Amino acid sequence: MRDNKKKVFLKTFGCQMNVRDSEVICGLLERQGYQISDDEDKADIVIFNTCSVRQHAEDKVWSAIGRVKAKIIGIVGCMATNYRQAIFDKAPEVDFVVGTSDIAKIPLIIAEIEKHKDSFLAKKIYETDSDHREDEIYHTGFHLDKEHAFVVVSEGCENYCAYCVVPYVRGRLRSRPYSDILAEIKEDIDAGITKITLLGQNVNMYNYKEVNFIELLKLVNSVNGLKEFSFITTHPKDTTAKLFQAMNDADKLKKYLHLPVQSGSNRILKLMNRGYTREFYLDLVENYRKIVKNGTLTTDIIVGFPTETKEDFQDTYELVNNVGFDAAYIFKYSVRPHTQAASLSDDVDKKEKERRHSLILELQKRISLKKR
Ligand code: 5AD
Ligand code: SF4
Repeated sequence: MRDNKKKVFLKTFGCQMNVRDSEVICGLLERQGYQISDDEDKADIVIFNTCSVRQHAEDKVWSAIGRVKAKIIGIVGCMATNYRQAIFDKAPEVDFVVGTSDIAKIPLIIAEIEKHKDSFLAKKIYETDSDHREDEIYHTGFHLDKEHAFVVVSEGCENYCAYCVVPYVRGRLRSRPYSDILAEIKEDIDAGITKITLLGQNVNMYNYKEVNFIELLKLVNSVNGLKEFSFITTHPKDTTAKLFQAMNDADKLKKYLHLPVQSGSNRILKLMNRGYTREFYLDLVENYRKIVKNGTLTTDIIVGFPTETKEDFQDTYELVNNVGFDAAYIFKYSVRPHTQAASLSDDVDKKEKERRHSLILELQKRISLKKR
């Protein structure tokens, strides 16, 4: 019987949110009788769960599409919402395009395409317009890792940082009911998983009825059988000493904070629409280290944002040097469609972006080595 099942190969590009979405998609497909395969060459259906955060991430997908041998090809995730049916013009071999909030429809869409694939009724399907997900999709029990699970607490983002495409491809912020989040964690524990990472683009904005993020941390901390949990990502503008206190108080919570600074220059932070200053960020770091004993700290940095001068870059370099992050993820700015920054000239040339990128990378390498 098993051999009659159609095989699906799903490749994930991008962040942990996408890793979790891919599990959800695999779970939904398994429920409908498909077999999830790790062999792309033997798969009947190949799906790419894509990322649009940087140009480079999209380029990787465009070139991967050209190499697919399977009969049916689907593009899901952020690029689906970003390009919609225009994907069919750029890559005619693609059969379906499904946006981030429409993933529950994937099994039906594949069935519909399979029905007509070799006939004159063969069609291409795109679904990109839902604005929410049903809670139910998070409960298929499909997990890639047997010890650790990602649990989405909120979807979308409404911060509109000037460089970021996420609010346009993942929609408005939606907090999941905390009762459903807790139910999912209990299911994970019943399946033998003891470590959890709570996921959201900006977890600080979590709010469902009377429960904010700090309350949610307390609820999760008290789940029986859970051994350890953590969360990503926080936004400095919404991060408070109260959160640090809650981190310190929750005994199962990993003392780990990913706090993306993006730039050390106040002028650039303003252009990025980040809503905080360098001084505010440095105060936060000081408070974090005071309140959360032995806490680790990581960050994201973008170099070469439009109009970034050598002095602006120097401010970022000094901030990285002074803070001493445990790790830093450094990105070269790339223009993203729809965003506010797309109207600015991308005026830091490629070589200069590369130079700034490697200077901070080297600096962070030295800092990380010293911390070991
Ligand atoms: N160019 C470069 N890096 C970007 N990021 C988001 N948008 C862009 C962009 N247009 C980076 C930010 C963010 C991380 C996930 O990706 O640093 O925190
Ligand atoms: Fe993008 Fe800013 Fe939202 Fe993060 S907080 S996803 S950088 S808009």
